[in-house]
Amino acid sequence: MAFVLATAALPPSIAALLAPIELRTIAGTTDRQAFLAAVRGASALMTMVTDRVDDEVLDAAGPGLRIVANVAVGYDNLDVAAIRRRGIVATNTPDVLTGAVAEFTWGMILAVTRRLGEAERLVRAGGWKGWGFDFLTGTELAGKQLGIIGAGRIGRDVARRASAFDVRVVFGGRRPGPDVDGHPVRSIDEVLQTSDIVSLHVPLRDDTRHLIDARAIGLMKPTAFLINTARGAVVDEAALADALEARRIAGAALDVFEREPVVHPTLLTLENVVLLPHLGSATVETRTAMAELAAKNVKAVLDGRAPLTPL
Ligand code: GLV
Repeated sequence: MAFVLATAALPPSIAALLAPIELRTIAGTTDRQAFLAAVRGASALMTMVTDRVDDEVLDAAGPGLRIVANVAVGYDNLDVAAIRRRGIVATNTPDVLTGAVAEFTWGMILAVTRRLGEAERLVRAGGWKGWGFDFLTGTELAGKQLGIIGAGRIGRDVARRASAFDVRVVFGGRRPGPDVDGHPVRSIDEVLQTSDIVSLHVPLRDDTRHLIDARAIGLMKPTAFLINTARGAVVDEAALADALEARRIAGAALDVFEREPVVHPTLLTLENVVLLPHLGSATVETRTAMAELAAKNVKAVLDGRAPLTPL
């Protein structure tokens, strides 16, 4: 019997959407052997960012596998070439999470510039001795420049919210080009050199791995902040930890890490970095919408129709 394997417990609407095809669930795939055993005979996989889908998984699934529906917009966890070689469809979940990630990015910007994590830790530790004129003063956003590296859906939605904070936007790209949504596009180096906040919104690919390395960080202003909601490996985490420790930049807010859930040990000791456990799209509304879009892709392919959001 055909079945769909999901690697996370999904909202009840998903089983209903897929019916009459059976939805099986394994919670989390940190146990690779359990994952390989569970995929056997599946017609479709609904995978999470933590699932590496490669030849080993495709072999284990067997010839009945028709679609790998990643419940994420990023798909660096999929070996898309290997999937395509076998004539299997791969899909992701663009658009439905754009707003949630953009909102979260602004939360991170505010958290690091206004030292919210540091202040919260201090209160909980009993370290608050009373109001102070120059106590935990942060950096104001109004009048500052936000450099957004990556003018895709999420980068542009982050930019759209900038006017609410009176923040000027400059996009950074491989090639400077025409304005995007009324904002200039400059070289990445120029954006790093001139921005007060730099926010990363590029996918992880060979050409973006360690895009932000020691050299790139060295271009940033000593007063600048780095925000990463994209993928951990876009930043050289060790180089960033060094720079933050030496206060070569003012701070960082990170929602993604090179070896999740492991965080570079130096970062854990620093007050000028906000550390978050990969929550960019984590709202009930958005996670439901992501799962529903992935399920619609599965349903379409298993019914012999074109997927909604193919890779
Ligand atoms: C989450 O990281 C995603 O790519 O959707």
